[in-house]
Amino acid sequence: MRSHLAEGWDANAAAWIEWTRRGLDSYRTHKLAFLPLIPRPGRLTVDIGAGEGRVSRELRASGHRVLAIDRSPTMTRAAATHPEEPVPAVVADATQLPLPDAAADCAVAFMCLHDIDDVVPAIAEAGRILAPDGKLVLAIVHPLNSAGHFEPDGSFVIPDAYTQARHYATTRTRDDLSMTYHGIHRPLQTYTEAIADAGLVIERLREYGSDDPADKWYRVPLFLHIVASRPAVGSG
Ligand SMILES: C[S@@+](CC[C@H](N)C(=O)[O-])C[C@H]1O[C@@H](n2cnc3c(N)ncnc32)[C@H](O)[C@@H]1O
Repeated sequence: MRSHLAEGWDANAAAWIEWTRRGLDSYRTHKLAFLPLIPRPGRLTVDIGAGEGRVSRELRASGHRVLAIDRSPTMTRAAATHPEEPVPAVVADATQLPLPDAAADCAVAFMCLHDIDDVVPAIAEAGRILAPDGKLVLAIVHPLNSAGHFEPDGSFVIPDAYTQARHYATTRTRDDLSMTYHGIHRPLQTYTEAIADAGLVIERLREYGSDDPADKWYRVPLFLHIVASRPAVGSG
């Protein structure tokens, strides 16, 4: 299956790897809110859309047996050959995970589902590999954030319909490096319906932004975190 966003991420992989390894995005603070949502280590934790492996490395350090999966060969190679902390990593599409049903206790999808063309089958696939009681823990760009932008006067504007999916490309420049994020804005309901259709139950939904009233991300949330679980056998 052709995946336009995935091909874009592979083409952009060198910039992403340098961007993340130089700590130029918000990961250092974002992870403090996200990682505590991940359950204790079980049999297997799958890091979907793992990129160059930074979340996988954190999880391994806290005792998880991790498999990193990414559609980009360049990203996957970087995760598997990290100079200090290489992680087991395979190239695969999120819609066709190379694992049997119920193989994992936890599927992590950190900041990748809005970068995946076919998000509904990807969430179904995450559900398929989860054992009963297993959890999907995900972070995405908050759909309110991806629907609009701040104007120079500080007002937040949603120029097109929030309800309609659309591609976006946002370029950030820090130090001497530029990074272009290619993604898809989708309304929140696309994710919550896909989670329900995958047979998962949402346990938590958290909105991540700034605690500082002077910060624009105090008014509009930056990211969204969801924890969803596959009901235990015999429950319900
Ligand atoms: C913003 S990066 C996030 C990487 C990693 N989770 C992190 O935070 O460092 C998004 C990742 O999604 C991957 N991706 C995009 N489409 C994919 C697909 N269809 N299947 C698997 N991975 C995909 C890209 O290759 C890229 O590594």
